[in-house]
Amino acid sequence: MTAALLDGKSLAEELRAEMATDVARFIESTGITPALAVVLVGDNPASAVYVRNKEQACQKAGIKSLMFRLPVETPTEELLTLIERLNNDTTVHGILVQLPLPKGIDEQKILDAIDPRKDVDAFHPENVGLLSQGRPRFLPCTPYGIIRLMERHQIETSGKHVVVLGRSDIVGKPMGLMLLQKGQGGDATVTICHSRTKDLPSITRQADILIVAIGRAQFVTADMVKPGAVVIDVGMNRIENESVDENGQPCKVRKLVGDVDYDGVRAVAGALTPVPGGVGPLTVTMLLRNTIAAARLQA
Ligand code: GUN
Repeated sequence: MTAALLDGKSLAEELRAEMATDVARFIESTGITPALAVVLVGDNPASAVYVRNKEQACQKAGIKSLMFRLPVETPTEELLTLIERLNNDTTVHGILVQLPLPKGIDEQKILDAIDPRKDVDAFHPENVGLLSQGRPRFLPCTPYGIIRLMERHQIETSGKHVVVLGRSDIVGKPMGLMLLQKGQGGDATVTICHSRTKDLPSITRQADILIVAIGRAQFVTADMVKPGAVVIDVGMNRIENESVDENGQPCKVRKLVGDVDYDGVRAVAGALTPVPGGVGPLTVTMLLRNTIAAARLQA
């Protein structure tokens, strides 16, 4: 068997085109341009790339993006002052603080300070609480993108055993909550595994749908996957591979890979997301969607 590829890139393009129309209509009817403030602290190169992608995607959709780049030594108090200013600025509808924050900054304090009505990441405790009660205000971008991708490919979640690998606040936990919700995209039987789970392969092999977000390059191998299962790879890892250059000399090439051993798993799974071009583009798309929703909420 060769797994069908779940193409996130083309779905993202399609949804973003729809959103650009939504945004234009919203601006026309309200005179308000949705605006997203993106805060990047420090010089994490991966974060810089993600933030640039978000900025470009906003611009293409007609959403105003306001970038705030702060030095790595920024004190928590100074960041809190910026958040407060953005909370009070009625021309800003969404606030995103790119994670991870540098070590010296109290991350929880910062996320707690964001006005929950502008919290387009859905990381604020109020929004996490609303999601856990099944009445979400915003849906966390990565899990939301995954639900949309499965919907698009008619992958039914109802009654299925979904195994989520990873317990992060950004992906694993909210993914589990969303799959447990009643109705479309939910109604799943959910198991959440993590680094301390015993005999992981015996559990992942039970999954009808396996969602992998553990941040370890090519961690999930073919023997961990039930034949025909749907495998969603949330990982983004930069690795160095041995290769040969144009003169036949050995050289190293840098490569972006997921948390799933793509070639091995592709031979076993029924469907698989590629990296890049799978979940990543949808995360950004859902951020745009949440920013439009935030602007509507505040209009
Ligand atoms: N870092 C990695 N993923 C995310 C995300 O979805 N939102 C934010 N704010 N930071 C991240």
